[in-house]
Amino acid sequence: MESHPHVRVLRGKKILLGVTGGIAAYKAVTVASRLTQAGALVDVLMTAAAQKFVTPLTFSALTGRAVVTDLWSPAGNGQIMHVALARETDLFVVAPATANTIAKLALGLADDPLSATALASRGPLLLAPAMETGMWLNPVTQQHVRELIQRGMFVVGPMQGRLASGAMGIGRMAEPPQIIEMTRKVLGRNGPLAGVHVVITAGGTQEPLDPVRFVSNRSTGKMGVALATSARDFGAEVTLIHSPLQVGVPFGVASIPVGTAAEMHAATFNLLPRTDVLIGAAAVADYRPATVADQKIKKKSGSLEIELVRNPDILGQVGAQRQQSGHPKVMVGFAAETEDLLANAKAKLESKRLDLILVNDVSAPHSGFGTETNQVTLLDKWGDVLPWPLLSKDEVADRLMIWVARRIQGKGLGDLGA
Ligand code: CTP
Repeated sequence: MESHPHVRVLRGKKILLGVTGGIAAYKAVTVASRLTQAGALVDVLMTAAAQKFVTPLTFSALTGRAVVTDLWSPAGNGQIMHVALARETDLFVVAPATANTIAKLALGLADDPLSATALASRGPLLLAPAMETGMWLNPVTQQHVRELIQRGMFVVGPMQGRLASGAMGIGRMAEPPQIIEMTRKVLGRNGPLAGVHVVITAGGTQEPLDPVRFVSNRSTGKMGVALATSARDFGAEVTLIHSPLQVGVPFGVASIPVGTAAEMHAATFNLLPRTDVLIGAAAVADYRPATVADQKIKKKSGSLEIELVRNPDILGQVGAQRQQSGHPKVMVGFAAETEDLLANAKAKLESKRLDLILVNDVSAPHSGFGTETNQVTLLDKWGDVLPWPLLSKDEVADRLMIWVARRIQGKGLGDLGA
């Protein structure tokens, strides 16, 4: 299998990570490490106070790059380091951002490498504030944060929780995974799907039999979540309509939790007037129990027969009204098959009036329900067929988003096999 440890939106990106003096500085180590592993070039700048909590050596060992601690360090090419860094950056992340540094950034002070670089930098700034509750809630801090947001800066957190003092309250730095997710969202905000609303259905619907039982399937929702993450990284506004998932809803994605196929159907049609792209990754139960018992069904001697009735075909019904309503502009389905893959997928592509269908053999190893990988073949409405190799679900999602972006611009499958 091809391995893609890098995150597409982070790969090769130049990120400055400013670390200020708070106990959460130790978590900035994880942020630096994960961004580097995901393919970003991370230059760390530390204030003097930050170095009381973590050493520059820790960061340079993880990023493989020098750490700036001195306002006057030369960049090696006759330039001043902070000026050179500011010029090249894609994003400046400050984590943790203390009240003192936030105040400096709001006022334009530049008396340490971090604030000087931030002032010189023209790229976006993402702050992860961390401080005692009183400092955070102080009107002067709130005013500074509001001003920074108005000037186009981004803020993640702070969260409620245990603070350095041992007290509970707001002021705890967002956790590293959230900071990374927000970094991805900010970097992707002007991407090829900016301004496009992508709606994705995910998970296996649950059709109740009685108050304690339901009929469902093996879907975990991983593919749908990978699609939502990727669409977000491509700059889209993303809504995930999902039955209970075995993985979390990605940061920055709107979540509409549902249980049954009927609820998923209603939620999809509700959003339809503002849906540009609809991707059906849910394993929708085709049948539901004809009646739902009010009380738990008790066992009796002999067998139990359950009558099942048809559920609505969500994509099928959306497809039937597409031409009149003009929504969605792009519609993609998945076909989970165990035999006659291409013929079955082609029939679904046509009957549901999809633009594209991704078919996978759910009986093959490493593909389908619960796996981290997927081997899919694409069939589009113009008759093009494109098999992709075995890929991580993240890579399948990224490739599909490239197709969606091309489709929004009126292009076909093109060279997407690469
Ligand atoms: N789908 C849907 N509503 C349904 C059933 C399926 O929107 N009631 C969508 C799925 O999300 C998927 C596509 O339609 O994108 C194909 O689903 P699949 O279960 O493979 O096909 P079915 O139409 O259910 O056909 P069959 O079960 O006979 O294979």
